Amino acid sequence: MRAHHIDRPADLDEVRESYDRVADNYAHMVLTTGIGDIRTHPWLKASIDAFADSVRGLGPVLDVGCGPGTVTGYLAERGLDVSGVDLSPRMIENARRLYPECRFEVSSTTDLDLAEESLGGVLGWWSLFNLPREVLPQVLAMFARALKPGGHLITATHVGDEDFRRTEAYGGVSVRWTTYKWRPEQLVRLIEEAGLHPVAELRLPADEHTGPGVVVMARRPG
Ligand SMILES: C[S@@+](CC[C@H](N)C(=O)[O-])C[C@H]1O[C@@H](n2cnc3c(N)ncnc32)[C@H](O)[C@@H]1O
Repeated sequence: MRAHHIDRPADLDEVRESYDRVADNYAHMVLTTGIGDIRTHPWLKASIDAFADSVRGLGPVLDVGCGPGTVTGYLAERGLDVSGVDLSPRMIENARRLYPECRFEVSSTTDLDLAEESLGGVLGWWSLFNLPREVLPQVLAMFARALKPGGHLITATHVGDEDFRRTEAYGGVSVRWTTYKWRPEQLVRLIEEAGLHPVAELRLPADEHTGPGVVVMARRPG
């Protein structure tokens, strides 16, 4: 039996089908333009490098909502024991094709059954914003329990107040999902309430590709 219960988002099937439809365009965009690739964004790359240095040697790392595996592959290149999970089977097909050396599984974040103190690190890298507002705290609590003492979470998400209903994405593909934007201080409070200690926060202004964002890294005490 699972040690914790996480509510199933009512729109989970729609979100999965939407990401399946955009998966090929998304993977192609990352590969051909560098948009969405940390290697082309010095501050995002620095955040992931700091995370990698913080979790090295602590235990397995799980990239939750890994998409086509860009960050999973990067962390594997840096020598971490990392695997990825994603809701979208098509995203996972792309990830397996692009990073055959890494392990990937299809799963919703909300269906993960993570053993207590089993992970050195967990990522929710631009992949938690589709979780309804009442579900995100449940997921963060699961992440906190799954981390070993001293283990780290890193998450990046879109900043704002709105529940933005998205109807097209990545090259005009029709999608149906909600982007739940968070104010940085709200997100940090949720992370603290989950039992983690924030260690760093990076604010990203809007640019020509996307709106404002925030990266938060946090540590399980002990
Ligand atoms: C914007 S993409 C980011 C992918 C990857 N982390 C990256 O940075 O390239 C968002 C990803 O979150 C995944 N996702 C959305 N809801 C999810 C859920 N409930 N469980 C697992 N993955 C989910 C999507 O399938 C998609 O691959």
